[in-house]
Order: sequence, then C-alpha cells, then structure tokens
Amino acid sequence: MPKTKFPPLVAGNWKMNGTLASLEEIDKLKEHLKNADPACDIMICPPFTLLFPMSERLGDSRIAMGGQDCHWEVSGAHTGDVAAEMIAETGAAACIVGHSERRADHGETDEIVSRKAAAAHRAGLVAIICIGETIEEREAGKTLDVISTQLKGSVPSGSDAANTIIAYEPVWAIGTGHTPTTEQVAEVHAHIRKELAGIVGAEEAEGMRILYGGSVKPANAAELMSVENVNGALVGGASLKADDFFGIIKAYM
Ligand code: 13P
Repeated sequence: MPKTKFPPLVAGNWKMNGTLASLEEIDKLKEHLKNADPACDIMICPPFTLLFPMSERLGDSRIAMGGQDCHWEVSGAHTGDVAAEMIAETGAAACIVGHSERRADHGETDEIVSRKAAAAHRAGLVAIICIGETIEEREAGKTLDVISTQLKGSVPSGSDAANTIIAYEPVWAIGTGHTPTTEQVAEVHAHIRKELAGIVGAEEAEGMRILYGGSVKPANAAELMSVENVNGALVGGASLKADDFFGIIKAYM
C-alpha cells in the first residue's frame, strides 16, 4: 500500500448548512477529541459566513478549517464570489474545488476547477480537488475514463502531495445512503493513483492523499477507510453533528 507523505484526513463539508448556533458542534467535537488521539488530520469546511467565527472557535485545537470553493482571481468585479486569498485570511488551510454540486449547479468545467485549484495554491491553501462519475457514466462502463479525464483537466501544474488532495466522490453516492462496494472504491482509487503519476510524477502521486466521499457514516467508515489507497474521507451530512463526525474519526483510533 503506498504510504502517503501525510496522515489520512477526515474532512467535513458542511455545504450550505450552519449558522453561528452550529458552532456548538465545534465545542462538542473539541470535547470528544480531548481524550482521543486519532491517527488522522481533521478538518471542517463551513460556509463562507462561518469561516472567521469558526476559526476563532477552533482556537489552537487540532481541527483545521477549509473553504468550499474559491474564485480563480485575486480580486475584481465578480459579485458573490470569494477569492482564495480571502479564504486564507480567515485562517483556513485548504479549499475544496470542483465539488460535483458546483459542477452541476454552476456549470463548472475541469478547466475552471483547474484554475480554482491553482488559485488555492497561489494563496497557500491545500486544494481538495473533487472528481467522480454519475450513475449513468458508471452504468455505461465509463467510470475510469471519466476519472482520467477529470484528473487530467482539473489538476493544475504545480500540484504536489503537499498542496493537493484528491477526493473521489461518486455523484450517485452523495447524500443517497448508497456507497460503492469496497472493490469498486479500491478499483477507482488505484486508478487515480496510477493516473496521478502521469500528471504530478510518481513520487508525488505516491505521497498524495486520496479521500473517499459519498454517504460516509460512523457505521461504514472503518470499512471504507481500510480500503487500499483510501487516505481519508470527505464527509457531508454526517459531519454536521459532532457525535456522528467523531464516530467517523474513530475509524483511525
Ligand atoms: P454525504 O456525506 O452527505 O453523502 O456528502 C458527501 C459529499 O458530497 C462531501 O463533499
């Protein structure tokens, strides 16, 4: 099994959920972690409005923070958008780019995702680049081709194991309660590792973390996290409650 340069990462993507009241969950998560030492990095990616207050609430805890999206430019006339530099200023360490919900809701192409990932790098953020096939693509036997195309198009030059994380999120597994079999996860993650070697070089590809995302829950986390080439999880729904999220983190205890 390739040894990545970094510990596995369990990251929570709060999506368009959370208000100031939700920061209570951060307090609860910190409490859970008081007497625990999981062998993984931990991150929460809240909506933009919560980045500054969450950063304050996280304090010097071991929980890192990330954005969910960024614009590719530093500043300018882009109403409603947020630059990677602005996200970095909140104390965030990373930024998700190319989530399938952004690809679907906002027409983001691989080209756009690549520019966003490069912007995250420019701002000193780790880019968490999301890829994954739809159910139609899987049923047509196109999964690995889709993954190859998305990787080649979405991973910008300058990407390495320190500044980039790949998240494999089959679109049909997101928020559905359906997860791929461990064999399906293993097949795609091995393929991602192999394709990355051609994009970032063999050494960086070996060291790069590849997360699995899509209906990860406390009940299935240990099994999914034990699959070869799975170096952590990107968690949606189950990251909103500290008890559930900690139940997933326990896969690394
Ligand atoms: P769920 O865990 O809710 O299926 O969402 C996964 C996801 O999209 C994380 O980015």
